[in-house]
Amino acid sequence: MPLAIVPDDSSRSRPPTQAPLTNTKYEVEFVAVGRAFASERRRHGAPVSGHLVVRDISLSIAPGEVVAILGASGCGKSTLLRIAAGLDSPSAGVVRIDGSPVAGVDARCAVAFQEPRLLPWRTLAGNVGLGLPRESRRQDAALRVAELLDLVELTAFANHRPREVSGGMAQRTSLARALARNPGVLLLDEPFGSLDALTRLKMQDLLLDVHAAAPTTVLLVTHDVDEALQLADRVVLLGTEPGREGATIREVLGVPGQRPRDRGSAELAELRATLLAGLGIDRHTH
Ligand SMILES: Nc1ncnc2c1ncn2[C@@H]1O[C@H](COP(=O)(O)OP(=O)(O)OP(=O)(O)O)[C@@H](O)[C@H]1O
Ligand SMILES: [Mg+2]
Repeated sequence: MPLAIVPDDSSRSRPPTQAPLTNTKYEVEFVAVGRAFASERRRHGAPVSGHLVVRDISLSIAPGEVVAILGASGCGKSTLLRIAAGLDSPSAGVVRIDGSPVAGVDARCAVAFQEPRLLPWRTLAGNVGLGLPRESRRQDAALRVAELLDLVELTAFANHRPREVSGGMAQRTSLARALARNPGVLLLDEPFGSLDALTRLKMQDLLLDVHAAAPTTVLLVTHDVDEALQLADRVVLLGTEPGREGATIREVLGVPGQRPRDRGSAELAELRATLLAGLGIDRHTH
């Protein structure tokens, strides 16, 4: 029987599949990672000394762990994520995934950005399908796409185009596309940054559901302290020391409690105050 992706929101049961949603989760290790960017100004063809963005970043992320990176704008969060994905190379140190160094764009990772970056002429199902490995068989691919759309609660909109859905739905499509090839590491760069506050909270809950169904390793960059506390096992605070160039890890904080966490708990309030202070934000302004 040919398989078609039909809008059917009434059926929430997942189709039987050969493979679980994801069974891959890799350790990610940053070992003494640094990144300097050469200045664009050149004197007589020779580069002027580089601008050091991050330095001495060493961090080990366990398979299946969710780690959030917090830090001021421009401190190098996206740079670290891009290095982990193999979209950029470190000037010093190395990133290892599952024990082997990242060299070039790494197929073990999937990345989702602040903007969904969907192809406007493709349906949501077609966009999710773009994340599948090229060698996927047609029938397997249709099943996988249906399963992922179900996971992000978009089955009824499979045949819609991106312009016909909301920003949150587009972002859910982007998340499904990132999960399509069963990544061992999911890299999220402010994935909910462009959404309104309510949609953002819903997306955070959805990400927790997704992680429960597909417990891959997640590295999440965010500006939002509460988002980090809600989603992460550990929060890494990046920052610079006064008078020194290059952001380093200032603090790594474990977040207590099972997810979903009580946003109003006293324990989280204390961590929130610590993180806000670390970001240089006076608690009276909040
Ligand atoms: N390709 C590049 N060439 C030169 N400089 C770069 C390049 N990419 C990033 N930078 C510089 O590195 C610094 C860190 O950038 P990055 O995008 O990692 O910051 P960020 O912490 O993600 O900031 P934001 O929170 O605003 O997204 C910035 O000063 C930026 O200008
Ligand atoms: Mg960034």
